[in-house]
Amino acid sequence: MTIAIDVHLPADQAAAMEQDVRRGLAATPKELSPKYFYDERGSRLFEDITELEEYYPTRRERQILEERSAEIVAAAGNPATLIELGSGSASKTRHLLDAMRDAGSLRTYVPVDSSEEITRETASALVEEYPGLDVHGLVCDFEAHLERTPTTSEAGPRLIAFLGGTIGNLYPDERAAFLCRIASLLDVDDHLLLGTDLVKDVGRLELAYDDPAGVTAEFNKNVLNVLNRELSGDFDLDAFAHVARFDLEHEWIDIGLHSLVDQDVHLGALDLTTRFAAGEMMRTEISTKFTRPRLEESYAGTGLSMAHWFTDPAEDYALSLARLA
Ligand code: AVJ
Repeated sequence: MTIAIDVHLPADQAAAMEQDVRRGLAATPKELSPKYFYDERGSRLFEDITELEEYYPTRRERQILEERSAEIVAAAGNPATLIELGSGSASKTRHLLDAMRDAGSLRTYVPVDSSEEITRETASALVEEYPGLDVHGLVCDFEAHLERTPTTSEAGPRLIAFLGGTIGNLYPDERAAFLCRIASLLDVDDHLLLGTDLVKDVGRLELAYDDPAGVTAEFNKNVLNVLNRELSGDFDLDAFAHVARFDLEHEWIDIGLHSLVDQDVHLGALDLTTRFAAGEMMRTEISTKFTRPRLEESYAGTGLSMAHWFTDPAEDYALSLARLA
């Protein structure tokens, strides 16, 4: 058993954020990237969201992994390596690792995450729990550094897991580009396991993103705290309201912050004052919901094709297994 952690964080993260936020605030409508939600407080608030009665995706995904990991691992050809994008504390991943161990194929786990601290903690815990396991972690922004993922497959097939439904945050063109890049990492025996939330009753969808206790609202507004801190901003959190609506045409939840008044916001680090009109909506996230045909369509043209589809009994959520087309 060995642990190796490679860190590939961009030299100037602050400059990248400045440029990104400047572009987003200049756009019409204004838009911020959901990646800025996840500072320490935001990550904690997201954990709280996953425990809400209304927010079913995490629970459903865990249920599928609990009940069907043996099937998934067999369908993926008993992989030796599990590469997990956005691994975090790897709580749901253990079901896959257990199934790989039970199949006798488990050799290496490659967690890929933007937090070095969490990746190190997860690596230490897993080598204890899985005797003989090698952990080769990568700390990076996987959207930017996917190519750093170790690509040797001599030990056996690899399974790349991208769980949590995070692919739903990407616009269709970004999603296609991302899947193309995954395809370029796969060999013929390798698979991608992708978690996606599914289209369902609009009332349930909207409640999952606008819970009565207001946890999601707090999570959404926290992005303004992040900007205030990182970019010396003066956003007034009370002057914005959380909005989450299902867009029937695009089949995504459109999440944003709605300005309650006409207001100017100053960001010192950008030397920028930006005006919000009363009623103006600034998008902070899209969360795409899929159907099986829509996901098959998403794979088409990326070099991947869907090989298996696993859902929970209520068909709220799906894990799909894809391979080279
Ligand atoms: C972590 C991106 C999967 O889209 O459901 C939860 C984030 N935003 N509530 C999602 C989120 C508002 C979540 N993902």
